[in-house]
Amino acid sequence: MVALARFGAQGQWEETWVCDGLVREHLGPAGVRFGRWPVRPLALPAGDGPAGAQAVRSAYGEELQALGPDFALHSADRVAVAPGDPRWPALRREFLAEHRHGDAEVRLFLAGTGLFTLRSGQGFLGLLCEAGEWVLLPAGLAHSFDAGEAPAFEALRLFGQPQGWLAHPTGAARPALPLYDDFVAQLLEQVGEDLAE
Ligand SMILES: [Fe+2]
Repeated sequence: MVALARFGAQGQWEETWVCDGLVREHLGPAGVRFGRWPVRPLALPAGDGPAGAQAVRSAYGEELQALGPDFALHSADRVAVAPGDPRWPALRREFLAEHRHGDAEVRLFLAGTGLFTLRSGQGFLGLLCEAGEWVLLPAGLAHSFDAGEAPAFEALRLFGQPQGWLAHPTGAARPALPLYDDFVAQLLEQVGEDLAE
């Protein structure tokens, strides 16, 4: 189930939405799109690049076409991380450093969950996605990503640029915002309170 939270400029948690329609409505002003695609078996060659893009086109041709002119696929890769993965501490640092891309990026979760933190207006948005959900980040949107202390996710990363994942760090100061584990804990607390009401 997708969940979206809005944070103020000082990092305070302001609002939470969990319905697709509400999530889309509140992602819209940031130029971010969200949706669901079926998870299909996909043989991706190692590394990123045009061969990966071709494999993704074969599996998700119709879905890519439905994205319209917002996105043209030029390269793709797959990221898969499991708890205890020795690569995770370095990858996590890289993903957590706020950055922008020169072109739009689509990420489709094939398994597990992950949290994007996006700059939006004066504040921030936290978007928690799970398997079968995709998100399109427009070119130039400052964002970061986390999957927690014990990451468990697999995602296709689709790029509009042939070089694949190419990030420009923003280096901008930002308030303390919840990382994945805190985000999930606070979200569950809120949903529990709503259910109890
Ligand atoms: Fe990114």
